[in-house]
Order: sequence, then structure tokens, then C-alpha cells
Amino acid sequence: MFIDLANTDQSWQDVYKIIVSFVNPRPIALVSSISPDGVRNLAPFSFYNMVSANPPIMMVCPSRTRDHGKKDTQVNIEATGEFVVATVTRSIADAMNDSSAPYAPEVDEFEKCALTPTPASIVKPSLVAESPVNCECKLDRIIEFGDEPGAGAVIFGRLVAIHAKDEFIADDGALDPEKLQTIGRLGRNSYATTADRFDLPRPQLRI
Ligand SMILES: Cc1cc2nc3c(=O)[nH]c(=O)nc-3n(C[C@H](O)[C@H](O)[C@H](O)COP(=O)(O)O)c2cc1C
Repeated sequence: MFIDLANTDQSWQDVYKIIVSFVNPRPIALVSSISPDGVRNLAPFSFYNMVSANPPIMMVCPSRTRDHGKKDTQVNIEATGEFVVATVTRSIADAMNDSSAPYAPEVDEFEKCALTPTPASIVKPSLVAESPVNCECKLDRIIEFGDEPGAGAVIFGRLVAIHAKDEFIADDGALDPEKLQTIGRLGRNSYATTADRFDLPRPQLRI
């Protein structure tokens, strides 16, 4: 297969489906935000990663909807400057998937997905009690790639607090992957678990 993206009959949706079928497994952020009126919102984003260690910055990328609109997550973060990223593990995969339904902005998605909101320490949006790790973030900046349907926005958030449940911490102080069981998004409706892992020592320079 060769696709010249400037000269193809394929729609952006077709090309998107191909790209996400090889850009994977992608980590999933379950993003908790809140409207200025206090309505809680939850949504998963697999266009998500850590992009800076010092300062610690994460990005999540909501795309524009079919009618060029911004997703509730982006609207809320633009209005309040705050959000929480809950880590998605196998145990909350179904609830995470439920939260991706296009609920209206006035719907509390914690209630719809049977997840439990608990107060954060610094920001207003709630933590997800069922997730082993929640990160409180303050908006750093947003970069938008237009307003066409499917156009992405990159929301950069500075981590201001991390909540990790003690029972998931390994001896070295980091999260234990065996216990954590994060999941990754593949193409189509598929997901991967982290059950099958291998280690590679960092290489020595060959001289
Ligand atoms: C596993 C998973 C990953 C997703 N990743 C993204 C993503 O990276 N960007 C995006 O715009 N939508 C993504 N979605 C779809 C959104 O979660 C969905 O549009 C949701 O309704 C947005 O909610 P909101 O309007 O409350 O922000 C994903 C859905 C699932 C199930």
C-alpha cells in the first residue's frame, strides 16, 4: 500500500482508520473536567501522552466533532483551566468506554458510567475513585489544528499533583505494571493489556 495524501480519493476518516491501526498501542487518559456551572464531565482520549518531565506536562487531544464543534472536555478546560487525568486500567475499561458516549453537556458522566467522583486536592474537577492513579493538571496551553471535523487540538496540562494508591506501588517507588494493568487502544474497537511484557537494558555505546 502507498498513499499519497495530497492525491487520494480516500476520506480523512479512511486515512484516520489506517493511521490508528498502526500508531498503537496508545495509552488512554480518562479526563475529568467540570463546567463553570459545576457539571462533571468524563471522556477517554487515546491521543494522550506525557510530553515533558521538567516541568511535568501531559497532553490530551480532543478533535472537532462532525459539526465543527469542540468536545465538552475542551470547552470545560478552556473555561476553567483545570482537569484531572485518571489512568485507565483493565478493571475500569467498560466504564471508560461508557464515558465515550456523546452525552449532552448538562449530563454528569460519572453518574452515567457508575464511577465515583472524589475531591481533588488542588483543582476543582473530581478524581476517579476507581482509578489507581489520578493526576491533577492546570492548563498550560492549547494548540489547535483548525476547525474542520476531525481536526485535533492539543491540550497541554501541567501536573500539579499525583494521587497513586499505595497498593499499586513497587519497591522502587514507581507503579508496579503487574498490579496496575493499564490498557492500550489499538485500531478498530480493540484494546491491548500489559499482561505480556519484556525488559530491554539500555544499550552501551559500541566503539
Ligand atoms: C478508548 C477511546 C479513546 C478515545 N480517544 C479520543 C481522542 O484521543 N480524541 C478524541 O477527540 N476523541 C477520542 N475518543 C472519543 C471521545 O471519548 C468521545 O468523543 C467523547 O464523547 C468526548 O466527550 P466530551 O464531549 O464529554 O469531551 C475516544 C474514545 C474511546 C473509547
